Amino acid sequence: MQTKQVHFPYISYLSLLIPIDMPRTKIAGIGMYVPPNVVTNHDLLKYMDTSDEWIQERTGIKERRFADRTKETTTTMAVEASKIAIERAGIAPQDIDFIIFATLSPDYYFPGCGVLVQRAMQMKEIGALDVRNQCSGFVYALSVGDQFIKTGMYKNILVIGSEKHSFGLDFSTRGRNISVIFGDGAGALVLQPTENPNQGILSTHLHSDGGNAEILAMFNPGTHANHWTPESVADFDHAEIGEMFMSHAMIDKAQNFPNMDGPTVFKKAVVKFPEVIMESLTANGLQPSDIGVLIPHQANLRIAQFVQQKLKLRDDQVYNNIDKYGNTTAASIPIALCEAWQMGKIKEGDLVCLAAFGSGFTWASALLMW
Ligand SMILES: CC(C)(COP(=O)(O)OP(=O)(O)OC[C@H]1O[C@@H](n2cnc3c(N)ncnc32)[C@H](O)[C@@H]1OP(=O)(O)O)[C@@H](O)C(=O)NCCC(=O)NCCS
Repeated sequence: MQTKQVHFPYISYLSLLIPIDMPRTKIAGIGMYVPPNVVTNHDLLKYMDTSDEWIQERTGIKERRFADRTKETTTTMAVEASKIAIERAGIAPQDIDFIIFATLSPDYYFPGCGVLVQRAMQMKEIGALDVRNQCSGFVYALSVGDQFIKTGMYKNILVIGSEKHSFGLDFSTRGRNISVIFGDGAGALVLQPTENPNQGILSTHLHSDGGNAEILAMFNPGTHANHWTPESVADFDHAEIGEMFMSHAMIDKAQNFPNMDGPTVFKKAVVKFPEVIMESLTANGLQPSDIGVLIPHQANLRIAQFVQQKLKLRDDQVYNNIDKYGNTTAASIPIALCEAWQMGKIKEGDLVCLAAFGSGFTWASALLMW
């Protein structure tokens, strides 16, 4: 989807004389929160057969943060990041007029986390939308917010990416290909309209290929009843009615954990990342050398390095922090964006490219002027 500034020609008789320009969407405030509990690769050796060398060599991860088991949730972390973003935007929680919350690890199966943020931050009875697009969830959420700002529907949108992965991974050797990769944390942005022609979101680009839906997936709980997979990924009780969503058999057979064919994800990601970044640049008549900072979703340092090489980007044009936080899925882009900005690596007027790839498969990019 392309969302460049559009000149709406004439919408009424009166406007024959008044061409109407849509505003652009700017990032008015940004915040992040990571739990204080640092879990190093060495710490994971207590639970599984792995090594610091293996994890660092394959992923670039040295440590990650894990939320407090009972005091922190996906929503509480989101609230901490949102407080900072809202304060930096110079507004109050009651000024927010829409919430978009991207996560794959919600507090409840339903309702979504957006309403929990609305309650926790004592916001008005505004709309709250949850986005389920995993690693590209934040760019999808940003794109939705961009449309609402440009059309004039809302003036202050809170866009959140937050994950508490540590609650549901398989930390035995059986699950080590996945559990060593993921970490917890949250990032949030406040979107507002701007008339400044040198600022704001230039375009967003969203894609999917459901042909690979089962390559990186958590099947259960779910309603699929093995419909989409040749082999059984869910064992359920043979009751006359109900009892298929989550069963004792699923838990006994460890079918309640995420599944990933890592090499297939890797091969597809290194193609789709450069493709969707180039799509955003081409749509705006720009080239890789114009990028001030690329914030790739922090899936794996090797993927980010491959993308950097392919696009011939200098080290200072790409920001990575997977070594400290692991892959925080929907939170990885806002956390990296916030950290890069706090470190002074993003300045006013810089061209920033956000790009993501993940489960679905879905992939997406956004190009903006800071
Ligand atoms: C997950 C990933 C790091 C695994 O690396 P890989 O080189 O592809 O490794 P493989 O899965 O082929 O496994 C290679 C070996 O390492 C072992 N291994 C897997 N995880 C391990 C771990 N944490 N520690 C030690 N050994 C491990 C495997 O059992 C396998 O052993 P074997 O050869 O004896 O069977 C890599 O595939 C990857 O990063 N893929 C992309 C994943 C991703 O980005 N996911 C998020 C999507 S946004």
